[in-house]
Amino acid sequence: MVPLKRRRVTAVQAENRDTHVCKFSDVAIFILERKMGASRKAFLTRLGRSKGFLIAESCSPSITHVVSEGNTGDEVQAWLSNHTEGKALTDSIHLLDINWLTESMAEGRPVAIQDRHRLKTSPKLSASTSTITVKSYACQRRTPLKHHNAFLTEALEILAESAEFSENEGRSVAFRRSASVLKALPYAVRRMDDLKNLPCLGEHSQRVIKEILEDGSSGEVESTRQSEQYQAMKALTGVFGVGVRSADRWFREGLRSPLDLIRTGQKLNHAQQAGVQYYNDLNRPVTKKEALAISHIVEKAVNAVLPGAIITLTGGFRRGKEVGHDVDFLITHLEEGAEEGLMPKLVNWLEEQGLLLYQKTTRNSYLESKDGPARPPHNMDRFERCFSIFRLEQTTEGSGAFLEAASNDTGTMEGVNGRTEQQPGPTWRAVRVDLVVSPYSQFAFATLGWTGSKLFERELRRWAGQEKGMSLNSHMLYDSKQQRYLRANSEEEIFAHLGLEYIPPCDRNA
Ligand code: CTP
Ligand code: MN
Ligand code: MN
Repeated sequence: MVPLKRRRVTAVQAENRDTHVCKFSDVAIFILERKMGASRKAFLTRLGRSKGFLIAESCSPSITHVVSEGNTGDEVQAWLSNHTEGKALTDSIHLLDINWLTESMAEGRPVAIQDRHRLKTSPKLSASTSTITVKSYACQRRTPLKHHNAFLTEALEILAESAEFSENEGRSVAFRRSASVLKALPYAVRRMDDLKNLPCLGEHSQRVIKEILEDGSSGEVESTRQSEQYQAMKALTGVFGVGVRSADRWFREGLRSPLDLIRTGQKLNHAQQAGVQYYNDLNRPVTKKEALAISHIVEKAVNAVLPGAIITLTGGFRRGKEVGHDVDFLITHLEEGAEEGLMPKLVNWLEEQGLLLYQKTTRNSYLESKDGPARPPHNMDRFERCFSIFRLEQTTEGSGAFLEAASNDTGTMEGVNGRTEQQPGPTWRAVRVDLVVSPYSQFAFATLGWTGSKLFERELRRWAGQEKGMSLNSHMLYDSKQQRYLRANSEEEIFAHLGLEYIPPCDRNA
């Protein structure tokens, strides 16, 4: 086998072998006529060949050096791609200024290529960036769970989280939208050029991305991550029942962790007491296997109190996540009205079986005739729902150690379902479970609303309002122009009403 490079050059050698001796067989030169003119090209060709250089008549894949005068690298590249009849030139081809050839001829041999000889080309637009258009609302895009830019999105999401801790919602949403755009890209971002024409990337996000691409990390992100405030807010809001407001107040009072809450004897509500008591378990990811085990329990319970009811696993697990912070269920019944009063019965059944460590049930407060299309406050829906903590028996070892101080101090706490003696041990763990009951007429909206992700939901509502003059929540879709409710029996119908392509749950990981 003749090595590739040698084969290439051999082909070109054939062209001028008769008249000249080729002294430098590794170098096959093509002189571009563009801007130089035919007579100058002919002159340089003759001169070059007389000095033993291999100068080809046409541009073939055998060429190793392309020399031109007065052209930019991009112009040469464009010319080449139009004149090589689809025959790919190698990436290693040198695009050079004429000064390389004149210096070489003066030296009587090909001189080493230096930066000043090379024509600058813009970074190659990858097929992805040049052909992909990314829509600006997350609900118009497919966002799979696994994507190519986690190293950037994780950083942007730290800043989003930090903005949430300071209750700066605008800033937080801006970072989340930037991250979400990167999650939808079918390629890994390598240079700033890869971000050309992408929506939602604000100046601040771009600065952070640039720093990470150039230096490997962003100073702002790293200092946020390390900051006392961020770490304390993360730990405190990590307690079930604790929101940003309380966490921030405690932080300003000098508290840093759930242990500090116990040590300083903070007044905690029932949810927070359970949150502290089961802190470690509730901060340990729930696996899909555990979610399925909980599903079986919920199915059994629901069937016992309302035969024929339909149970859907919603939230992150419906989107295909392997782990979650909780397990979300939506329950309905084909017969409208049959679902009324279901939740108290369900909760009773679960409590009797000793399966609930904590629960707080809220009654359905949504009445279309009364509430109309106005958006419920904070986008909270008003289904009959139950925020709970399940006691899940574990067949295998592995319940993590519980918060040690909490076991002593909260052992005497009241209110956690009178089960203060219960502490996670090796045989069971605590799992957060959300149960929601919806009338069948609202089931499609409830399913869409409880499948998430949170950003996807937010973008759906923004799309409905800003682009369609409609109002969407987990109960209904209202068309303000037509002044009527748009009914739907499936998620597909809701997307259709909204003029959106249907996005399946696995692609709603915005
Ligand atoms: N949701 C809601 N009202 C709430 C809480 C949640 O409508 N008070 C919706 C969210 O918009 C989301 C879905 O319920 O679409 C699931 O929320 P959540 O369990 O918090 O998040 P997941 O996406 O399931 O993620 P994780 O795996 O962390 O649980
Ligand atoms: Mn969830
Ligand atoms: Mn949830």
